[in-house]
Amino acid sequence: MMKEQLAKIKEDALAAIHAAGQSDELDAVRVKYLGKKGELTAVLKQMGKLPSEERPVMGQMANEVRAALTDAITEQSKALADVALNLKLKAETVDVTMPGQRQAVGHKHPITMVIDEVTDVFIGMGFQVVEGPEVELAAYNFTKLNTEEGHPGREWTDTFYITPGDVDPKNDAVLLRSQTSPMQVRTMETRKPPIRIVAPGRVYRKDEADATHSPMFHQIEGMAIDKGITMADLKGTLNEVVKSLYGEDAQTRFRPHHFPFTEPSCEVDVQCFECHGKGCSVCKGEGWIEVLGAGMIHPKVLEGCGIDPDVYSGWAFGMGVERLAMMRYGINNLKLCFENDVRFLEQF
Ligand code: DAH
Repeated sequence: MMKEQLAKIKEDALAAIHAAGQSDELDAVRVKYLGKKGELTAVLKQMGKLPSEERPVMGQMANEVRAALTDAITEQSKALADVALNLKLKAETVDVTMPGQRQAVGHKHPITMVIDEVTDVFIGMGFQVVEGPEVELAAYNFTKLNTEEGHPGREWTDTFYITPGDVDPKNDAVLLRSQTSPMQVRTMETRKPPIRIVAPGRVYRKDEADATHSPMFHQIEGMAIDKGITMADLKGTLNEVVKSLYGEDAQTRFRPHHFPFTEPSCEVDVQCFECHGKGCSVCKGEGWIEVLGAGMIHPKVLEGCGIDPDVYSGWAFGMGVERLAMMRYGINNLKLCFENDVRFLEQF
């Protein structure tokens, strides 16, 4: 009777063990047969009721069943762990031979490339880079730069005013700066000489967009103020910069000019990189290409910013970045720079 019971438990339990596909199912089987209230345990509890000569035989058989079930559970548990591991490995496989996903990586805009190149040369000479507002006060864009009322640049036909009723541009009128020169004033007002700065940035003018003009363009302002600074320092510095950008035999030409905020003032030309002065289509037959305006900072401007012109002197310049970029990369239409067409931009 008990013998058959044990045999049946063994058969059922082994079948259940082998059928268990998950470790929690396997554990449930173990509890069902070998647990405190399990079926095998229940049979063993009845052992006391057996005649004494049968007890050792049944005891041995029960032990064998227990051992067989325990072994089977251990084995099944290992098998389940192997299956799980293999599944995990399979899921986490990396096929190193698969082609990668190409990430489209952009690069700097040609205008930014020129700004970085020029500012790098100045940084190498001990200049600091400063930046300031594109939305500016008329006071900084004009008045403090010794640009009197009535100057054509102050007209609403030339400059973008933001304040309402701006047709009569006053000092506190708000505008889009038409030059980076206000950064001269902003720097002088906040720093004491010696000062050596460059200030790159966007400027705005009411110019019709064409192959060489844009209502928004870029300038780099430069300024050096110290005791005993002369026009010779300006020439030396700018010659060095031009040589760094265009090679050792690049030539410059300084022509007298007029700006309200410098005295004396000049314009600087670089000999045409294409024809070396002979005259060609790039330089429109001139042999030279104008790249910047410059001069010795007007004593009135220094004084207005609290710098004593009897003690200090300085030079300043403002260069057009688009002009430089067009020369450097042979760009024949400025509009291309602002259309954001990647087919154009990818060429640099
Ligand atoms: N701001 C002038 C312009 O936009 C260029 C310029 C001329 C800047 C002379 C200067 C300077 O700093 O000294 O045309």
